[in-house]
Amino acid sequence: MSSRLVVAAGVFVALVGSVAGGLGVVGALGDDRPDPSLTDHPSLRSTPASATHLIGVAVGHRALTSDRDYRALAAHDFDTITLENELKWSHVHVEPGVFDFDRADDMIEIADDEGWAVRGHTLVWHEQLPDWFDDARLGREQAIELLRTHITNVVSRYAGRITQWDVVNEPLADDGSGLRDTVWRRTIGDDYVALAFQFARDADPDAQLFLNDYDPTPDGAKYAALIELAAALRADGVPVDGVGFQHHLAGDLDLGVVADRVDEAARLGLDVAFTEVDDRLPDDAGPADLAQQARRLSGLASVCVASPACTTFVMWGLTDEHSWVPDAFPGYGHATLFDAEYRAKPAYDAVFAAFDPIEPDPALGARAAGVQGGGE
Ligand code: XIL
Repeated sequence: MSSRLVVAAGVFVALVGSVAGGLGVVGALGDDRPDPSLTDHPSLRSTPASATHLIGVAVGHRALTSDRDYRALAAHDFDTITLENELKWSHVHVEPGVFDFDRADDMIEIADDEGWAVRGHTLVWHEQLPDWFDDARLGREQAIELLRTHITNVVSRYAGRITQWDVVNEPLADDGSGLRDTVWRRTIGDDYVALAFQFARDADPDAQLFLNDYDPTPDGAKYAALIELAAALRADGVPVDGVGFQHHLAGDLDLGVVADRVDEAARLGLDVAFTEVDDRLPDDAGPADLAQQARRLSGLASVCVASPACTTFVMWGLTDEHSWVPDAFPGYGHATLFDAEYRAKPAYDAVFAAFDPIEPDPALGARAAGVQGGGE
C-alpha cells in the first residue's frame, strides 16, 4: 500500500503555479553478500560508550536501499540512524497538506531490521522547503496551520519509533545575536519556535525534542546562545528537552569550550546531542591532516562520552563517498570516519578509542595537554 497520504483538511494555501509530486525511487538490494573485509574492524556500537550513548550516523535512502556494503557497514558500527534528507519538507511534504512517506518508511523498516534507533531531522528549517512553498502566500494564521499540519502528521506517523527530533534547525543568526531572519520568523513571528515544539510534543509526548544548530564562532558564542534560547523557552513552559550541536568541523576549535558548553547545558537540565559531526579536509589532504582529523574527532567524542548530559553522538555521513561536504564545500572532502572505499580511517581508530575507556585513549592525553581541535 502506498503511504502517500492526503491530509489537506484545514490547510489552505494560496498557491501560484504547478506542483511537482516527486515520488522517490526505491532501490532494490542485489543478491550479492556484503564484502566481509569492510567490517573486519572493531565495532563502535559494541564499545562501552554505546551502553550510555546513542552512536549514530546520517544515512541516505538510495545508498541504504541499494548498496549492501553501505548498509552492512552502518549496521556494524552504529546503533542509531538519522534520515539525512528524507524527512525534510522538500522530500515529505510534496503538496500543501499532501505527504509522501515512502522513502522514510523504507528506511524505518530497515532500521527495525537492523535494531537501529532513529533520530528525526528536521521539522522546521529555512532550507530544503518544497518548490510550492515559494509560491504560497502565507499569512500568520495560515503559516501556523501549515506548520501544525506538517508537524502533527510527520511526528505522529513515527510516534514511539523516532525517539529524538530536531524540531527547529538552525534558528540562530550566525553571530548568535538573536533569531535568524527566516521565512518562518517573517510569516509567524518569533513564537514559531515555541509553536513548533508544542505541536511536536502534542504529536508524540514521549519523543525527546531538540533545538539544533551549528556554531561558526571561535569562542562557542552561538552554542551559548542556543543554550540560552532553549533555557528561556523552557522557562516559558515550552517543551524543549535538549540542544543539538551539529559540529561540522572546519578548522581550529577549542575542545575545552565545547566541554564548557556541554556542562552549561547540563547545569540547566538540558540534554545534549552532537547531531552532525564531520571534519572537512582539503581534497589534497595527506597523512598528517588525517592524523589531525583523528585527534579532533576523538577529542569531540571524548567530550561527549565524559558528560552524562551528552547522550548522542552522530556522524553526518557514513563514508567519504556519501558525505555532503564535497557538494557543499567544493575543494573539501575526507570528512567522515570511512574513506571512499569504505575503509576505516585513522579517525575511526581514534573515535573507537574514545568510546572504549578500556583501551588507552591518546585523544584524552592530547586534550589534557591543551591540543586544540577544529571547526565550526
Ligand atoms: C544536508 C544533506 O547532507 C545534503 O544531502 C543535502 O543536500 C543538504 O543538507 N545542516 C543540516 C543538515 O542540518 O540537514 C544538512 O544536510 C547539512 C547541514
